Amino acid sequence: MLRLAPLLLLPVGYAQAAALHQRQNGLQWGSCELNSETDLPVECTRLAVPRDYINRSSNETIDLDIIRIQATQQPSRGSILLNFGGPGQDGLNNMVSYYPLQGPIIGEHYDLVSWNPRGTGNTLRFQCFSDEIEDSGVAAALAGTLVSSSDTELGRIWAEAKIIADNCYAQQNATGGLVGMSYVARDMMQIVDALDEDGMLRYWGVSGGTTLGSTVAALFPDRMDKVILDGVMNVHQYYNSYESESLAGADGAFEHFLSACLENRENCALARNFTNVDELTAAMDKLFETLKYEPIPVWQLLASIDYSAVKTTILSALYRPRSWPQLATTLNGLIDRNGTEFVLQYLVPSAPTIPREAEAILGIRCGDKSVRTSDQSDMEPVLEEFFQSSKWFGDFAFGWYSAVCAQWPMTARERYIGDFNVRTANPMLFIGNPFDPVTAFKSAQNMSTSFEGSVLLQHDGFGHTSLADPSNCTDAYIKNYFEEGTLPEPGSVCEPNAPLFQIP
Ligand SMILES: *[C@@H]1O[C@H](CO)[C@@H](O)[C@H](O)[C@H]1NC(C)=O
Ligand SMILES: *[C@@H]1O[C@H](CO)[C@@H](O)[C@H](O)[C@H]1NC(C)=O
Ligand SMILES: *[C@@H]1O[C@H](CO)[C@@H](O)[C@H](O)[C@H]1NC(C)=O
Ligand SMILES: *[C@@H]1O[C@H](CO)[C@@H](O)[C@H](O)[C@H]1NC(C)=O
Ligand SMILES: *[C@@H]1O[C@H](CO)[C@@H](O)[C@H](O)[C@H]1NC(C)=O
Ligand SMILES: *[C@@H]1O[C@H](CO)[C@@H](O)[C@H](O)[C@H]1NC(C)=O
Ligand SMILES: *[C@@H]1O[C@H](CO)[C@@H](O)[C@H](O)[C@H]1NC(C)=O
Repeated sequence: MLRLAPLLLLPVGYAQAAALHQRQNGLQWGSCELNSETDLPVECTRLAVPRDYINRSSNETIDLDIIRIQATQQPSRGSILLNFGGPGQDGLNNMVSYYPLQGPIIGEHYDLVSWNPRGTGNTLRFQCFSDEIEDSGVAAALAGTLVSSSDTELGRIWAEAKIIADNCYAQQNATGGLVGMSYVARDMMQIVDALDEDGMLRYWGVSGGTTLGSTVAALFPDRMDKVILDGVMNVHQYYNSYESESLAGADGAFEHFLSACLENRENCALARNFTNVDELTAAMDKLFETLKYEPIPVWQLLASIDYSAVKTTILSALYRPRSWPQLATTLNGLIDRNGTEFVLQYLVPSAPTIPREAEAILGIRCGDKSVRTSDQSDMEPVLEEFFQSSKWFGDFAFGWYSAVCAQWPMTARERYIGDFNVRTANPMLFIGNPFDPVTAFKSAQNMSTSFEGSVLLQHDGFGHTSLADPSNCTDAYIKNYFEEGTLPEPGSVCEPNAPLFQIP
């Protein structure tokens, strides 16, 4: 089994940020503990919040680790909270990774604030395995193999998913109910209170952060100031099903990758001598089928490049259109059974097979879901639904969360069970890209229908969320929304700055 870089954004390595000590609004801001060194002016603090919002007889608290980068133009007009998805991504390290993208858009007049959601970092961290087992075969199988790689894989993944679910229970039964989205939403409002501004939430959530945004807006509609949900998940499916809709844009993304390749032959090795997209598509289908039965051996790695590794790599690359020329070079090599580029570009020898965030993602997501079964055959119609959504990538999310969540023995203490038909104090802004590989445009349409007065901006770039393929037009709408409170006209469309295969 080869180890791939996880589909989640990779966290950065270890360091201390500049120590700035300052007391403000009751929060004591100081230095941050991060995975890698940064020159950004980050400051961190801790906030005690209730451990269990429902159990009123318990006065126990937990600490949230919070990070901030102050507005570059002082005085600041207030804070914008950020969440980077998963749900279950770490907030502190991701703040450093995302600031170069988000800071230039909204960081001039606003302090940008994020935090490690419960389940991550030092806050009720959801850990199912000891570090040694983390690297073992079970984890590898779940993270790496796809149901469609063979007709025996479904059963194996199902069985191993049960092992994961049971291990999580053995480790986390005491806290497994405390990490759900509703509690994360309540934590977020505690941060808003502690910041002691106007008591209103300003928020930009991407990807899994859109489930958090939908939940907080439904729980606290009167406290919503400006809320942007970008790369939108269907929150109804998040709570009540296995999320087949999420992949509805994935095939379109791959098809655009192939057609854009032929339109940019000079930047796309994969164009070869293919004259049209049907030929190239047929060659890809042939490659996938061949890899199922004849993986490419890489003797230096004592491993082979197989169907699952290649499919997973493609989906991961579809998140980032900047990486498409490299993806094309790699696939071009694989057609000739040359794995050199694949090994160079996509194998990360030291990456754990299940990234740390993945456990938090399971803890939060599975406990929030209402669907369960102990019967493997119940998953067949689920898989069918996934493949209707995406014929090429339908089974990507199956192993590492659907099959685990189906057998999850814990439930979040509080689950939002309303219909999300809500009128917020100020209208929300949704942003969706029609060919986002993992958060479908129709999910953005669906959610925008729920929140009265909201507007959906169509970002016509590629990749996952509006940040993957920059558009000055989208950025201007975001900035104006926060600064002036203006929304795009309904039906507005933004083009990215550069065409595919030419993104700088
Ligand atoms: C509620 O909190 C009290 C006090 O900490 C504790 O004894 C009790 O077990 C808790 N109840 C539940 C259902 O967790
Ligand atoms: C929490 O409750 C316990 C028992 O009711 C009490 O002894 C303790 O002082 C309380 N702690 C705080 C921080 O209020
Ligand atoms: C519950 O978790 C504790 C550790 O927190 C563990 O010792 C115990 O065995 C678990 N219980 C079950 C039924 O798995
Ligand atoms: C492309 O070129 C290769 C030889 O380099 C040849 O085998 C193949 O048939 C050609 N394919 C097409 C579609 O022309
Ligand atoms: C395989 O691909 C690499 C990198 O693109 C290239 O340097 C090498 O010559 C290729 N090997 C063969 C046998 O074509
Ligand atoms: C939104 O999605 C849910 C779950 O798939 C579905 O039941 C509902 O009909 C959708 N609503 C709209 C307006 O599309
Ligand atoms: C986007 O904005 C940047 C910075 O203002 C500018 O340099 C660039 O030319 C703009 N690109 C497009 C396509 O408008």
